[in-house]
Amino acid sequence: MENLDNFIKGMPKAELHVHVEGTLEPELKFQLAKRNNLDLPYESEDEMRAAYDFNDLTSFLKVYYEGMSVLLTEQDFYELTYAYLLKAHSQNVVYAEIFFDPQGHTSRGIAFDTVINGIRRAQIDAEKKYGIMTQLIMCFLRDMSSESAMETLEHSLPYKEWIIGVGLDSDERTNPPIKFKDVFERARRENFFLTMHCDVDQQDSTVHIWQTLNEIGVDRIDHGVNSLEDGVLCREIKDRNLTLTVCPISNGYVTESMKTAEIKAMLEKGMNVTVNSDDPAYFPGYMNENLIVTQRKAGLSKAQVVQLSANAFEGSWLADEDKAAFLRLLSEYVAWKYTFNILPK
Ligand code: ADE
Ligand code: ZN
Repeated sequence: MENLDNFIKGMPKAELHVHVEGTLEPELKFQLAKRNNLDLPYESEDEMRAAYDFNDLTSFLKVYYEGMSVLLTEQDFYELTYAYLLKAHSQNVVYAEIFFDPQGHTSRGIAFDTVINGIRRAQIDAEKKYGIMTQLIMCFLRDMSSESAMETLEHSLPYKEWIIGVGLDSDERTNPPIKFKDVFERARRENFFLTMHCDVDQQDSTVHIWQTLNEIGVDRIDHGVNSLEDGVLCREIKDRNLTLTVCPISNGYVTESMKTAEIKAMLEKGMNVTVNSDDPAYFPGYMNENLIVTQRKAGLSKAQVVQLSANAFEGSWLADEDKAAFLRLLSEYVAWKYTFNILPK
């Protein structure tokens, strides 16, 4: 099998599934705790990492929410976002759609404005400095009430121009998509794009995926790997041209496998599957590591790797002309690499 590591590293990429709070690396967590006069129950970054002891979504989320406690000021959100964008840029990610969880902060007494102003300022600065383009997706926490989600949606409306879409994350157990039907209907009326997590190997996973299609009318599905259990569902996802944002290293932590064979199966069915990092500070691996492990484990060809990247640009919520420009950049990279590879012969 051809070694495609360097090809993947150099390839222009889009990331469609990354939680900004999930990019909070232990080093920054310590810095922010110090600045905010907070005590962390760990002596060192290694000790903190060692305490990341999770084996399913629920146990992961506990650590994830605890981690947020160091984020207090606009500057904290700025530095968090900027650090992710710098890392993404270093891996040739040229475009990212970034989730944020306002209720994870407003429930701790942090103002919505503080959160979004910090994130937004980092988006602008990183684009100016590195050319990395980004858009924001606001997620509702599905283990909170639909009333709280609706309040959050209303609170976000003055910032509508800064938010491209809304999503649904957190603990899926007993919190099906349909619980948020009214909220997502309202979001649609406000012209947001819609996506929802359908986490992997949940109870009633395929029922939940069907709900996102038939009850919510999503534009995209986050994860959604269990759709492979239902041929009719796969066909429907394909016919509606819905993109699935799969996160293999994350899946490897919260389920029994990275689901890389499933990613290949989706590619072979012509589904618009993409590879993403989810919460890279907790499930170690950013875009390159996720793509490299998928390529190696599933034995993907170079064409399939390129397809994964093209799927992400296609499935993005960019304007058509920007999508086309990024897809051209990708084609040029593939063509250039071919010329480069034959030069030494
Ligand atoms: N919030 C942050 N990461 C998540 C994930 N992988 N699934 C559900 N909610 C999340
Ligand atoms: Zn996620």
